[in-house]
Amino acid sequence: FDAVDVIRTKRDGGELSDAQIDWVIDAYTRGAVAEEQMAALAMAVLLRGLTPRELARWTAAMIASGERLDLSAVARPTSDKHSTGGVGDKITLPLAPLVAACGAAVPQLSGRGLGHTGGTLDKLESIPGWRAEVSNAAFIAQLNEVGAVVCAAGDELAPADRKLYALRDVTGTVESIPLIASSIMSKKIAEGSASLVLDVKVGTGAFMKDLTTARQLAETMVGLGTAHGVRTVALLTDMSTPLGRTAGNALEVTESVEVLAGGGPADVVELTLALAREMLAGAGLADVDPADALRDGRAMDTWRAMIAAQGGDPDAPLPTARERHVVAAPASGVLTRLDAYAVGVAAWRLGAGRARKEDPVSAAAGVVLLAKPGDRVQAGAPLLELHADDPSRFERALAALDGAFEVGGSASSAPLVIDRVG
Ligand code: URA
Repeated sequence: FDAVDVIRTKRDGGELSDAQIDWVIDAYTRGAVAEEQMAALAMAVLLRGLTPRELARWTAAMIASGERLDLSAVARPTSDKHSTGGVGDKITLPLAPLVAACGAAVPQLSGRGLGHTGGTLDKLESIPGWRAEVSNAAFIAQLNEVGAVVCAAGDELAPADRKLYALRDVTGTVESIPLIASSIMSKKIAEGSASLVLDVKVGTGAFMKDLTTARQLAETMVGLGTAHGVRTVALLTDMSTPLGRTAGNALEVTESVEVLAGGGPADVVELTLALAREMLAGAGLADVDPADALRDGRAMDTWRAMIAAQGGDPDAPLPTARERHVVAAPASGVLTRLDAYAVGVAAWRLGAGRARKEDPVSAAAGVVLLAKPGDRVQAGAPLLELHADDPSRFERALAALDGAFEVGGSASSAPLVIDRVG
């Protein structure tokens, strides 16, 4: 095969054969297809799309580029969750131990944040001693003993995606439904879980800004999971305003621990329970009520065991920021809008996120929301609190928040869980 032929075929709107797809993904992973050739092919796919047959083959080739984890030594039924990414989306932190406390095993390979959305591993790394790297043997042992592992994916898992995602990130080729769906699902299928719940975010703070494209992405991913024998469902959930009252690393850990203690913000609790019910149903445990395990402390016990198993001290104080800056409400009334994207960018500029893969993140930086849409606010009263180690970061964070909130007469309340696909 010749890479230029493959690129020309897709550029001109043709269909790639199974053999062409297998070859190009494998050759790219080995370095035999050059980065600039794959970049051209990714752009052709973004503009021309993939047929369902091409997408299925493309995803299978990405899975076959590495190893598929074998979870047959795990005694409990396995269930995982993947979120397409949002602002203040700390749900994995309370959810994984909660579902484990209810009897399932949660094998969650997570990522670090890039851009305005936070990464689960960055959040957990704010806990002193906690390690994201877990060997395959320790992964299986922890699934059997604790029931939940949240850790970094090894280099052997879908290596084609590791290269391709980094390339897409710098070539304007992220925003393609077949490329996003095959990227996410190749990793999740290779991870070996028998069932999977997708949290597909919709709104300003999400990849997918409108419901039509979010639904298309959800249907595409559910189809791929099902075709590979993974019981897959998706919830379409709102990401027009941040989840909970914090966006940042240690700040979100603290909020998650409040949820595990039976408190926490209502929206975080609602989404955690909705996803837990879907995961338990996928694991054949539909008759277990996760609300009981939050109430009686079992989820908290599992959280402590999960953190300790990876070297973390669940009782250690978390880092706090040296500097704070308060943003006051501009008028009295009801907070009608607090934009998720703007808060995500502000948290990122305060140091909670990174601009390049190699950059460090600040554990303590972030944004605390002192009011949420629907709340009554008084002119001049604190609305947001910005946390940073370095006060020179406040100015750019404040610029991101320009126009991000509105105070008016009344707020319309949109549902958090918009729909279910699967
Ligand atoms: N997350 C992924 O893992 N891949 C994408 O393409 C987009 C989001």
